[in-house]
Parts: sequence; structure tokens; C-alpha cells
Amino acid sequence: LKHFLTIEGLPPQLLTEILDTADSFVDMNAQQVKKVPLLRGKTVANLFFEASTRTLSTFELAAKRLSADVLNLNISTSSTSKGETLKDTLMTLQAMHCDMFVVRHSASGAAHFIAQHVTPDVAVINAGDGRHAHPTQAMLDMLTIRQHKGDFKNLKVAIVGDILHSRVARSEIHALRILGANEIRVIAPATLLPKHIESLGVKVFTEMSRGLRDVDVVIMLRLQRERMQTALLPSESEFYSLYGLTENKLAYAKPDAIVMHPGPINRGVEIESRVADGPRSVILNQVTNGIAVRMAVMSMAMSGQLNTQSSSFTESS
Ligand code: CP
Repeated sequence: LKHFLTIEGLPPQLLTEILDTADSFVDMNAQQVKKVPLLRGKTVANLFFEASTRTLSTFELAAKRLSADVLNLNISTSSTSKGETLKDTLMTLQAMHCDMFVVRHSASGAAHFIAQHVTPDVAVINAGDGRHAHPTQAMLDMLTIRQHKGDFKNLKVAIVGDILHSRVARSEIHALRILGANEIRVIAPATLLPKHIESLGVKVFTEMSRGLRDVDVVIMLRLQRERMQTALLPSESEFYSLYGLTENKLAYAKPDAIVMHPGPINRGVEIESRVADGPRSVILNQVTNGIAVRMAVMSMAMSGQLNTQSSSFTESS
């Protein structure tokens, strides 16, 4: 078994194999994900120490479609609230013979910490750690882009909004680079850009009119208020006027550009309802793709297919 903690450092063949495996789970005639026996007899524990709608629900559905038994630990009513440490909670769940932990936590590196403390036969999947990584979100976004645009190599992709606090942006940038996207842009006010973001191989823009010009894919991000200091909170109306994706601003992109958002969306803050619900939005396709991609990652982890030579596979950077 191997863990799935970050995209950084993974070989392109492995990312493509995850996408191909995800595709194989979709019954194209029925337009839905098939139930398969790949994880029969296995137990998957979802440990979400931070709020989630999409990720938790699709991991649960994915595990059930793989025929696994699923345990959703309700952290707010668990013994964590009585002072039990993360490590002791883990040891307790391991004693119940869980085979896989799916972990979301507000602390960057939490999934990596758990991976270091589980027994070798247990797999750990990162479902989002602080502002560090959200690798399965990035992979479902890559599947959505591939379905709509085919190859990555001619694509210009813009990621817009709160890049500084976004684990999704970081994982997407790594995935797009590994899969060979032509150009990756980030568009944000200077206060919401990480220092040295250019070192990740992106072009930086602070104006939508320039950054969106001729892009094929627009990925919007919400303001991650839970990770901001109050003093740094931008005004919502000012942010919307400069960076909110309206039909007028979308006109800078290519006429067939698609609009994406990992969710949850804040209408009237980073995106106009007419765009979020409009014909170029693939936001709900992203949600649907979460089931097949998470099935692919979980089944490949259990079968050892995620085993890779890459040392950064389990790295927490
Ligand atoms: N995209 C995403 O992680 O959404 P949730 O927080 O609802 O899981």
C-alpha cells in the first residue's frame, strides 16, 4: 500500500493512470458510476476534522461503490472533544482493523503525520490539509478538464482568487504542470498571492482583463476566510468588483472557455450566479467526477498501484 498525500513529485504516467481508472468506473450508457467489488471486505474510515460537503459525501459514495464498509467518524461528537489526541484516536481506529483513513484537517501536514504513525498495511488519503494540498480535488478537476478539452498540452488555464490560502490551487498547479498544460496563470490581488509563487511555474496577473485573455479554462476560488487573519479580510464588494467572475469579465477568455470552481461557491463574492449556473459552468460536473476519481485513488492505493519511486509522494512540503 501507499498513501496519497500530495500531487507534487508524482510521475505523469501515474496521474494519467488515475484519470483512466476513474473513466473506467463510469458506465457511459447509464451515465453513472458502476458498483464494483474491488474493496469488498475492506473498511474505510473518513476522519474529517474540518467541515466538508462534497469531499466527505463523494468519498463515502466512492467507498460504497467499491463495496467497502464505511465508517464516518463524527469528530464533533467523538472523544476528540474530551481531549483525546489525534494519535490516540488513530490507534483506537486501527484496533478496529480499518484499512484506509481518509483525512481532512485544518493543519497543513496532518495527513502526513497520520501516514507516519499508521501500521504499514493501512493507506492514508489526504482529503485536504490546511493550505497545503487537496490532491483528490486536483485530480477530479483534471478529469473534468480532460473530458471537456481533451489534451492538456495546448491549454491556458487561469486560477483566480485567494491563491494564498488555497490548497486546491497548489495541488492544481502541480497537476497541470505534470500533465503538461501550456500555460498556468494565477490572478489575484498581491495580498492574496503567496511569496515566490512564480517558482511553481505560473504567470502572475493582478488584473482580470489581462489574466483572462485567451484562456481555455477559468478556475475560480472562494475567499478562505477561516484561514485569514481578520485584519487581512478584503471587502467582499471590492473583491467582487475587481475579481468576481461576471459575464463581462468572462468575455476576455476564449469563447469556448469552461468555468470551474471546487466549491463551496460564494455567489456575488467570487462569481456571478449567471456564470455559476450558465452554459459554460462545469461546476456540477466536477462534483460528479469526485466519485469516480476517489474510487480510482482508493482502489489503486489498496492494490499497491500508487506505489511510486518518488520520494515526494509522501512528502509534506
Ligand atoms: N471542494 C471541497 O473540498 O468542498 P468541500 O469542502 O465541501 O468538501
